[in-house]
Amino acid sequence: MKGTIVIQTDVSTGRINRNIYGQFAEHLGRCIYEGMWVGEDSSIPNTNGIRTDVLEALQKLNIPVLRWPGGCFADEYHWKDGVGPYESRKRMVNTHWGRVVENNHFGTHEFLMLCELLECEPYICGNVGSGTVLEMQEWIEYMTFDGDTPMVEWRKQNGREEPWRLTYFGVGNENWGCGGNMRPEYYADLYRRYQTYVRNFGDNRIYKIACGSNGFDFRWTEVLMREAGRFMDGLSLHHYSIGGPNWSEKGSAIDFTEGDWFLVLKNALQMDELIQRHSTIMDQYDPDQRVGLIVDEWGTWYNVEPGTNPGFLYQQNTLRDALVAAVTFDIFHRYCNRVQMANIAQMVNVLQAMVLTEGAKLLCTPTYHVFEMFKVYQDAEALAVDLQTPDYAWGEEKIPQFSTSACKDDSGRIHLSLTNLHPHQVGDLSVALRGWKGAKPQVSGRILTSSEMNAHNTFASPEQVQPEPFDDVQVSEDGLSLQLPPKSVVVITLQP
Ligand code: AHR
Repeated sequence: MKGTIVIQTDVSTGRINRNIYGQFAEHLGRCIYEGMWVGEDSSIPNTNGIRTDVLEALQKLNIPVLRWPGGCFADEYHWKDGVGPYESRKRMVNTHWGRVVENNHFGTHEFLMLCELLECEPYICGNVGSGTVLEMQEWIEYMTFDGDTPMVEWRKQNGREEPWRLTYFGVGNENWGCGGNMRPEYYADLYRRYQTYVRNFGDNRIYKIACGSNGFDFRWTEVLMREAGRFMDGLSLHHYSIGGPNWSEKGSAIDFTEGDWFLVLKNALQMDELIQRHSTIMDQYDPDQRVGLIVDEWGTWYNVEPGTNPGFLYQQNTLRDALVAAVTFDIFHRYCNRVQMANIAQMVNVLQAMVLTEGAKLLCTPTYHVFEMFKVYQDAEALAVDLQTPDYAWGEEKIPQFSTSACKDDSGRIHLSLTNLHPHQVGDLSVALRGWKGAKPQVSGRILTSSEMNAHNTFASPEQVQPEPFDDVQVSEDGLSLQLPPKSVVVITLQP
């Protein structure tokens, strides 16, 4: 069966916040250390201690916002241990992630320098689980105040004269679990208390994000919105797509069957239901949609690569992960009025990473390429799209064969994503362009695909999966028709 898409080219459904393309970097495994931070004395070429190859690869993604230092690590992180001369920084055990010793060499100054190099906004997650209100208050003062106080004096001694701009601050992470095993009523009260001392100094304005639900825990959202909704700007949501039957058997990142392919995509598509149901609860308390839904952890989670530290969450990344990213972005675009930020987990060497490193070597993953292809959506107007799609069935279950979303950028160009989730069947698609004025559009496109479901890049062969030009599109004044190869992601640009 054929798929049909109708795009209302003159009907915007909202602006796609560029922060949907955000990243997350935790003190976990080799994400920060080795993956980004090697120190100035490293033989790996670096920029003020940050690996130059990783930096240059990431700069091409136009990363809008970066979340740090966790994750679970955030609720055991004490920021004062991570500033000042390296030799006197206090070491600690990273109890969540491999019980390795953290030397605190990557701290507040290093993180905010990384954000400046990436030209992105910092999103810092504070410690509620094991930190004090005073500690959180002083961190904000240290970073953003400009006046004669001990915190500011200390910042200056540590090499930073001017306050930084800090836009996003999370008050705890997963406080229903690793962040303190709290009940929503208890966390809601703590949130109200801690956020009181997250102050705006000078013209710095902080967008405060409360810890949200674990996936399908809708009661958490209900309690948080009821008890603390008026004190927050954003409420988070975490959703991971595992590749196996449960959290003990999460499946392999590269060694999988078609059933596993289907399962991961089905799990990823649950994001739609999650956003819809959490938004419905939020709408009751916040009908004007003032509070953003902040999906600050999402992505695939498999068993770690054989032979690697189980606490380091290092996994390979295939074409399947690229499709997960593409269909997830299509969902975020559909809910762009409520979803104001999303941060894939994680940026380097952990879970669904953009970049993997091994010693001085680097590769960009298939997921990286989707982020690069989709960056045209950042800050564009989402367009009204109607998709009629056949199903892709596996056993008794089915998911849609196609996924799509469209946007119009500031210069009037229209961008259209098309994903074929079926691993074997070519998809016949027709695209009607309602409201399109003028002559036949000029069309250009790129495709990410491969003959293998588990195609991936390796350090020996880092360009196995990468975008290629895609111009097999029949264009008329009314629209387009094309054949979408199996297991592919296409982004097409239409120019008047
Ligand atoms: O991203 C890995 C972990 O997943 C984060 O630390 C935690 O917040 C979540 O459970």
